[in-house]
Amino acid sequence: MPATPEFDPAQLTDAVLASFAGAPDPRTRHVLGRLIAHLHAFVREAELSPDEWMRAVDFLNRTGQISGDTRQEFILLSDVLGVSMLVDAINHRAPGTTETTVLGPFYVGEHRVMPHGTDLAADQPGERVLVEASVTDTAGRPIAGAAADVWHAGADGFYDSQKPGYRPDKPELRARFVTGADGKLWFRTIVPRSYPVPTDGPVGELLRASGRHAMRPAHLHFLIAAPGHQTLVTHLFVAGDDYLGSDAVYGVKPSLVVPLEPGAAPTWPDGTPAPARWHRMSYRFALTRKDSTR
Ligand code: BEZ
Ligand code: FE
Repeated sequence: MPATPEFDPAQLTDAVLASFAGAPDPRTRHVLGRLIAHLHAFVREAELSPDEWMRAVDFLNRTGQISGDTRQEFILLSDVLGVSMLVDAINHRAPGTTETTVLGPFYVGEHRVMPHGTDLAADQPGERVLVEASVTDTAGRPIAGAAADVWHAGADGFYDSQKPGYRPDKPELRARFVTGADGKLWFRTIVPRSYPVPTDGPVGELLRASGRHAMRPAHLHFLIAAPGHQTLVTHLFVAGDDYLGSDAVYGVKPSLVVPLEPGAAPTWPDGTPAPARWHRMSYRFALTRKDSTR
């Protein structure tokens, strides 16, 4: 019978690493190896007590339990830890492309195509903003047939998918616009406002325990897909917002901050009457080809 070796905590990390070293897929082997090495180093450095580790396990359990089709607490956790932005940063480095930012937990999948000019907030009160955008390649040439999904929170700070009675077939403040030959799209909506990320779950506990605020600066989300191009996930942030410097999910990049310009004309671009006061946001989104290096 082989002798049972002495347990040696100093050797434990190496023993665990060795037991994963036979993973046949090289990428799995590499990623698991790095994860174990850093996780063990974290436990050693922080000198975790059994109670602390059980609190962490309970926290992760509850993060999973509160998640479902319309609530993604693990994405939110990744966002407030800065991991979402880190993964994004190391995977999107192509020069000349519009900068990317977090997808966030409130994208509900492919949106319904709406005609250009649609008011996303048709029945809702609030100052209007006209959003005029174009989708181009990195050389500025228009891309036809690009599908731009747009979504944002309402004046109450909530996305439609967060509200009781949410109906995926009756979307609010979300739509898809498909560009024509000129690569352009336009729509109207209410001026977005800053709002807090959900704080009624484990991530809220984490923020409170850390003395952090939960606010995101006002923004519109975009997910733009075009044949032959890499899909762009980004936001447009409203210039002047109080939280641009302290976004709870670290998503702000200066190139995505856009001024609200005062609208002057008495009509919208399609000739229908505009209110006395409205705003305009204009932006050009540049997409990279699929075959370009990251
Ligand atoms: C959002 O902008 O919808 C969002 C992004 C990250 C975390 C929570 C919300
Ligand atoms: Fe958002």
